[in-house]
Amino acid sequence: MQRNRFVLAAALVGLALSLTTPAATAQAADTPPTESGALLKWLQAGSYRQWPKESAPHRSMGPHQGLVLTHLNPVLDKSMGAKAAAHPKGSAAVKEFQDSNGKLTGWAVSVKTAAASDGGKGWYWYEILGASAGGNVVAQANGVPLCSACHMRGRDFVLTPHPLD
Ligand code: HEC
Repeated sequence: MQRNRFVLAAALVGLALSLTTPAATAQAADTPPTESGALLKWLQAGSYRQWPKESAPHRSMGPHQGLVLTHLNPVLDKSMGAKAAAHPKGSAAVKEFQDSNGKLTGWAVSVKTAAASDGGKGWYWYEILGASAGGNVVAQANGVPLCSACHMRGRDFVLTPHPLD
């Protein structure tokens, strides 16, 4: 009996601790790492699937082949909703590539790493194709010219129409 009380008390302390740090936890989960190895693991863990996202995969309007499904982290979703000209540091988007059977074939990621976009240098760009077969990393740096040149046409480098469809 005494022991059960101890176990219960320990569980309550654990619960209290987990309730006191939700902001820090949410922040860590909502901004992807910008080191390619860590980012790939983070993508594979799939926590971005909890973010606001498009309702169904669709053909890309860009060069991104196959079907795509975009997810915006809560910070970016809110900023797009407010039609902000510049998004806050920590804004991030994850676009899944899928084949016609809905199988995941890769990811494209953008993360704003500075308050100023600076012609695309304030954004980190990452793309991996054929993720299941080891993957071919197409981009993994801030200011990748290929990505920035096209994304420049968007609202602070974000091209997906908002509200998310
Ligand atoms: C020629 C234009 C073009 C190029 C080059 C391009 N994209 Fe995109 N990208 C788009 C379009 C258009 C969308 C909107 C969704 C769609 O239709 O695919 C998009 C969407 C995205 C999204 C979802 C967030 C958003 O901005 O809408 C990410 C992340 C992304 N692209 C990453 C990349 C990365 C990384 C590169 C470089 C390797 C890249 N893109 C190169 C056109 C482009």
